Amino acid sequence: MNTEIILVKHPLDPASFRRPGQALASGRIVGFPTETVYGLGASALLPDAVREIFRLKGRPTDNPLIVHLLSAADVNQVAESIPDAFHTLYEAFSPGPLTYVMPRRPDIPDEVTAGLSTVAVRFPSQPAARALLEAAGVPVVAPSANLSGRPSPTRARHVLDDFAGRIPFLIDDGPCEVGLESTVIDLTSDPIRILRPGKITAGNIFEQTGIPVVSWQEKTDKEKNGRPSSPGTKYRHYAPRARVVIVLPGTDATIAEAFLTEIDKERASIGLFLSEETWDAIRERLTSQSCHEDWAEREKKRQVPLNLYTYEGGRDLTRAMHHLFDALRTLDMRAVDIIYAEGFDGEEATAYMDRLSKAADVSEMTGEPG
Ligand code: TXA
Ligand code: MG
Repeated sequence: MNTEIILVKHPLDPASFRRPGQALASGRIVGFPTETVYGLGASALLPDAVREIFRLKGRPTDNPLIVHLLSAADVNQVAESIPDAFHTLYEAFSPGPLTYVMPRRPDIPDEVTAGLSTVAVRFPSQPAARALLEAAGVPVVAPSANLSGRPSPTRARHVLDDFAGRIPFLIDDGPCEVGLESTVIDLTSDPIRILRPGKITAGNIFEQTGIPVVSWQEKTDKEKNGRPSSPGTKYRHYAPRARVVIVLPGTDATIAEAFLTEIDKERASIGLFLSEETWDAIRERLTSQSCHEDWAEREKKRQVPLNLYTYEGGRDLTRAMHHLFDALRTLDMRAVDIIYAEGFDGEEATAYMDRLSKAADVSEMTGEPG
């Protein structure tokens, strides 16, 4: 199969979405950008198309999918009853990177919800995603467009790395703005609970709506003993082939010094993910007189160069989120043995540190890749 790449023109031309939209509605698979990550879309109304998504990704069948809709008016196509808080939250955060779990309609395919009594819905804000939904005219399930267990795709190239020749259409609209998957909240639990952290935090939700939301780490007794309520979070994710180590500034050490300590220890092939400003500080130290050897000597001794992935400007969480998955994939392609990646503190960094920890900490893995 040839994967046809549709490069999005700006301003958007709705006509260019007609063929991929029809393809979706007739049961074929289309890769497309959202504001979070690229998704692999299929009609939520066609069980065979939904099964094809699981097959392509190598995804465990007990991991349900998110249904993508254009607006709140479409929710009753897949949900049975709409919890009270939904409309307030929708006003504040949708369209955007927030996914709502609510009671499902019995007549949607079981494949979508992995047999659960709930369904997850989200309203993407990315204009090309919306144009595609408009053209398809059906609710669209879309997991992240990566092979199960690989870092999520934030550029069209990442989707091609995993699915070239295996899907009929890919819509390319450049890098995804946020770079991490949506926040998933459970509207059927009281209080509402975050099942997967994302850019929108419990703090953001409380600030903007006054609705209290329990953080994702606080597990209920039922969860401690049984099935996690967001099945996807139990699987290994975001894993590059290289070992990943998180670097945080210490109480007495700057982020650059923390990186330098690690670089000095290692003799393996190293990848660094950090800001340009931090790299500048590191380079200065590596080349300064106070070092025993100069930069060139050190590099010779190491025999393999440092592989850099820097983002523009100073240390910045939003930019680090935007680039994280591209950095993991890019450094992995350069076959480094170890990736040192910048860490961040604080509630806003919860989702970033969650994804990075899943890439870094092999001991956290359970079950099959997801
Ligand atoms: O940003 C995103 O959400 C992206 C883009 C493409 O929209 N999609 C995405 O889908 O990340 P996926 O399939 O990679 O992750 C969906 C997550 C999984 O953790 C899954 O277990 C959870 O949502 N989920 C889906 N339906 C659920 C349900 N009924 N109850 C609880 N969790 C659910
Ligand atoms: Mg995923």
